Amino acid sequence: MATDGAQVRLAVIGCGRWGPNHIRVFSEADRATVVGCADPSQTRRENVLKRFPQIRAVADYHELLADDSIDAVVIATPTNTHAQIAREALQAGKHVLAEKPICATSQEAAAVVRLADDTGLALMVGHVFLFNNGIKEMHKLVESGSLGRIHYMEANRTNLGPIRGDVNALYDLATHDISIFNYLMGCSPVEVSAVGRCISQKNIEDVCFATLKYPDGTLGHIHVSWLNPRKVRTMTVVGDKQMAYWDDIDPDNTLRLYDKGIDQEPHYDSFGEFRYLLRSGDMHVPAIRQSEPLVNQAQAFLDWVLQGKKSLSDARYGLDVVAVLEAATRSMAEGGAMCPVDAASTAALCEAA
Ligand SMILES: NC(=O)c1ccc[n+]([C@@H]2O[C@H](COP(=O)([O-])OP(=O)(O)OC[C@H]3O[C@@H](n4cnc5c(N)ncnc54)[C@H](O)[C@@H]3O)[C@@H](O)[C@H]2O)c1
Repeated sequence: MATDGAQVRLAVIGCGRWGPNHIRVFSEADRATVVGCADPSQTRRENVLKRFPQIRAVADYHELLADDSIDAVVIATPTNTHAQIAREALQAGKHVLAEKPICATSQEAAAVVRLADDTGLALMVGHVFLFNNGIKEMHKLVESGSLGRIHYMEANRTNLGPIRGDVNALYDLATHDISIFNYLMGCSPVEVSAVGRCISQKNIEDVCFATLKYPDGTLGHIHVSWLNPRKVRTMTVVGDKQMAYWDDIDPDNTLRLYDKGIDQEPHYDSFGEFRYLLRSGDMHVPAIRQSEPLVNQAQAFLDWVLQGKKSLSDARYGLDVVAVLEAATRSMAEGGAMCPVDAASTAALCEAA
């Protein structure tokens, strides 16, 4: 395998809306050279070549997998193709950065987790919000105990389109919020309930509301939609000491920290009772260093490939997210029933794969 000094020779498979962003960030990275891309659509290959004329653009990604001078591939194709392409890439000895969600089913994801373990190659998932500085700061606040015990989290991710034909809005959008909630909580939820509506297409939910329950009782609520007048990317985390609000679209106030909550004090004229006082203190806006999350993610992938520094966003992390998506989709089919997310069974899937 030619991991040529400090340079990773890389190719991007899938050049639709998102793939060219990977070509851009890896082309600008010091430690990578983008040498190829693949897409069956001639128009999409031509669009890439207009911007990046130096790279080799092919219709069939197998040509790239057969090229021994390529060390790593990025998979930016529709979700239902990720499993096969990741498997073939690992078997061809390539490190892989697969777009989210890692695969369409937990069974497929477990198989690629196992293959990555067996080959020792990097298999990272593009859970790009784990590389977002606002979310990283939120994680620090949770970890340090600044927010106190977390009561609940709430995420909103809406816009008018783009509408996907292969997966529902949960797989497309809530994947991000589940990956963030799991990061903040340090574990997966144990139960999920979700409802959704199929509006523009049959059997594909455009709008979904999901509630995740974590082992300590913390709730996480997610609203995702392709059918909404406003582009919203927000998250609220309510702790018993402080509350935090993240707005990815507001560059000046990306993260706000509120000294708000409910305090209890003894009620002196009646023994054993408490008075509840609403605390509404200051609002603080921590300075968040601006850097593009996709660039940070690309650097983490290069750290893994070149220095063996495994990313948090590994294939196992991706599998846990898919297990939640599956449970939520099952719940939608059962009219919002609470459905278990069984960590033991996802571990067993990897063993059995
Ligand atoms: N991390 C993020 O924020 C983010 C944002 C957008 C999309 N994505 C993910 O990226 C992936 C692609 O999304 P998109 O919006 O670019 O979709 P898209 O439909 O615009 O593009 C997919 C491209 O893959 C190509 N393709 C299909 N099968 C292929 C194959 N076998 N070999 C090579 N190319 C093939 C298609 O021709 C198309 O050009 C999805 O998994 C999506 O979830 C992630």
